[in-house]
Parts: sequence; structure tokens; C-alpha cells
Amino acid sequence: MHLAELFFVSSLSVATFALDNGVMRVPPMGWLAWERYRCDIDCDHDPKNCISENLFMEMADRLSEDGWRELGYVYVNIDDCWSSMKRDDNGRLQADPKRFPGGIHKMARYMHDRGLKLGIYGDMGTHTCGGYPGTTLDKIELDAQTFAEWEVDMFKFDGCYSNATEQEQGYPLMSKALNATGRPIAYSCSWPAYHGGLPPKVNYTQLGEICNLWRNYGDIQDSWDSVLNIINWFFDNQDVLVSAAGPGKWNDPDMLIAGDFGLSMEQSRSQMAIWAIMAAPLFMSNDLRTINSGARSILQNKIAIGINQDPMGIQGRRILKEKSGIDVYWRPLSKNASALVFFSRRNDMPYRYQTTLSKLNYTTGSYQIYDAFTEKTMTLKDSTSFVVSVNPTGVVMWYVSAPAKRNIRQFYRGGRLQGSLFDDDENAISPVFL
Ligand code: GLA
Repeated sequence: MHLAELFFVSSLSVATFALDNGVMRVPPMGWLAWERYRCDIDCDHDPKNCISENLFMEMADRLSEDGWRELGYVYVNIDDCWSSMKRDDNGRLQADPKRFPGGIHKMARYMHDRGLKLGIYGDMGTHTCGGYPGTTLDKIELDAQTFAEWEVDMFKFDGCYSNATEQEQGYPLMSKALNATGRPIAYSCSWPAYHGGLPPKVNYTQLGEICNLWRNYGDIQDSWDSVLNIINWFFDNQDVLVSAAGPGKWNDPDMLIAGDFGLSMEQSRSQMAIWAIMAAPLFMSNDLRTINSGARSILQNKIAIGINQDPMGIQGRRILKEKSGIDVYWRPLSKNASALVFFSRRNDMPYRYQTTLSKLNYTTGSYQIYDAFTEKTMTLKDSTSFVVSVNPTGVVMWYVSAPAKRNIRQFYRGGRLQGSLFDDDENAISPVFL
């Protein structure tokens, strides 16, 4: 079996109290317009990049023809500024007729014909953040029905221009209204991001019951500062956030920006690796028509994707924040495996970080290691000292197998000490790694 497939097999037996619409048992993957294309509606002067049918169809073509879809990147998500400034005569939202002449239903059919899914954006409030018609409480059912009729697969509900009381009513109401349509529509809630993302103002138990994913924090921008700021917030608050996530309910640290302008290759690898540790939704916001091969191979890294998509769906943690500027992140995976990320906050030169697996809380045993970005394998005993060289603002990312235990039989065979102390076959990494 292909490694990616091995990871993608979903475990139906995991008990969870997530929104009961059956979707997003593993974090969603796809493409989302906002960070890269914002509210560019100037199709006269910028026809290739304006928010229009053409942009979404071209991205769908790239997803389906350049190997993205097979890796799991299936959502094509429209964000703000898609609609007309006015609802239609029946009070329904409608797409801007010039930029989306075929309407949103045409977009959905285009995606479905290619094995992709369509996401749309709305806002709990009088206006969207970009000033387009919002969804006030009285419009929630109508808008949910409209999206279902358009055969939309995901809905992001932003929270500009509403107060806390309206949001407290609106977000659960929309969840019910979407479920009532009978169409499984994944539901992304920006609600917590409007209240600081932390209890007591934010109730993660409730969010897990009504939403499939939620934005906890501010918007990502095309810079390393922004990525680092998001990483810091999510891991400084990991004790609250890790337990909120699970199959069908995910924390969303916002889009992947690899392939844009602000990140180096090292930084792009860092974002990909740490988003995988976080079990974060992987929505790229970049230009798939012109993306360079370096960014593409990072975003298409099968080990990072496999780790992100682990069926147990347990969000990982920062387990060490060293004075040297090295952080260590860890995520438990199915089959008793795990992922480790060594991340450097330094800005001088590659840093040689020395440790052992037992110092990183691993139990006695021998482990197979697979390096996600160099594709090298090795065997490490828990007590063996090793060194990883971590580049400034970069990462080393490892898939770590289950431990092979001491093999006493082999050890004493024939009354003599022979063979290896550990049975390395027990946890061999599948040949597709090699
Ligand atoms: C908010 C959201 C962004 C994006 C914009 C659109 O800022 O957090 O993700 O949807 O609105 O206006």
C-alpha cells in the first residue's frame, strides 16, 4: 500500500462528539483564495487574478492535473467578495453577475466533475468583513438552503459586524440549518477568533459539537513574522487547544502560504511541518499556476501530509522550548508511531542539537526514523545520543516508528549472546519509505 494511502485509511471507531455530519474525519486539505487574492475584483485590469469564475476554475485545473488532488487537496474555497452587493428579489444571496456569470452552482459542478469540492464564504452579521451582504439571524435558514441548492461542500462563517449575543445565537443556528438541508456541508466557524480564542469567553466543547473547524486567532499574512506569531500563540495555548481537536473538529491556524512571496524554503518547510504537528487544516493560498518546484515539493511532501492526516486525529504539542532557541514538537500517531519536529528560532547558522529519544519521553526500544525532507532512514535506540542540524528558521521533521522491544529470546538463543538486542523487524518502516 502507498504510504499516503496507509495514513489516509480513516478509523471509524474513534469515539468523538464532533458535529454529526460525517465530514472531515481528518483535517481538510485544499486551496483557499483569501490570503493570496484578497478582494481583488478589478477584472478589467487584472483578469488573471481577480476573484472570478476563471480564477477558481484555473486553480481547480491545477489541483486536478498537477498531482494535488491525489494527495488530498480537494477543496477549492471561495472567500469574501464573491457576491453581488445586493440580495436578489427573493432575499437570496447571489454571486456577482459579471465575475461569476454562471453563478455558484456552476462552480460546484465544475469542482465535482473533477473530484473536487467547493467551499463558500459568508458572515454572521450585517456585512462581510469586505463590506458585502452578511447573514443576519433572520437570513440564516435561507442562506443555508441556498448553499445546499448550489451543492456547496463547505461553508466558512466569518464574524464581522455582529455582536457577541448575535454570534452566540447565530453560530449554533447555522450549524442546525446546514444539517437540516440534508447535504453534508463542512462548517468552518470564525467565532472564537472574535473573542480572543480562549476560555472562558470561548467554549471549545460547544464548538466541537457545532463546527467542523474554527479559526482561533488572527489572519495569516505573507510574512515569517506572521507565521511565527501564529505558531507562538497556538503552542503557548496548547493546553486549551489540543483537547479541543479531534476527528471532525479542528483548530484552524489559517492558510499555508508556501509558494507566495514572504517565506524562504526553510520557513515554508517549517510551516508545513508545524501545521502537520497541529493537525491543522491544510488550505494553501497561493498561485498554483506559477508555483515554483521548491514550494510545490514542500506542499506535496507525503510524510508531512501523512502525519497531518493521521486517522487518530490527536493534535501535537511543543514538548521543549530550549534556551538555545530550539523547540521540539511531538505528535502521537496511529500504530504507536509518532512525529517529531526540531525547529530553530535562531538566526545565526545551522545549530547542532544533541539529545536522545529517552530525553524526549520515548520508552525503551529501538525506533525506525524517517526524515520527511531528506528522505533518509535510520535506526535509533532510545538511549543513543544523536545530533540534528537545524537551519535558522528551519526544521528537521521525523516520522518515528513504534518501538521494537527487547527481544529476549533472540538475545539468549543457544545460551549465548547473539543477534541484536532489539527485534528490528517488529517495527520496520514500510518499503515505500525507502
Ligand atoms: C476576515 C477573515 C479572513 C477573510 C477576510 C475576508 O478577516 O478572518 O480569513 O475571510 O475576513 O474579508
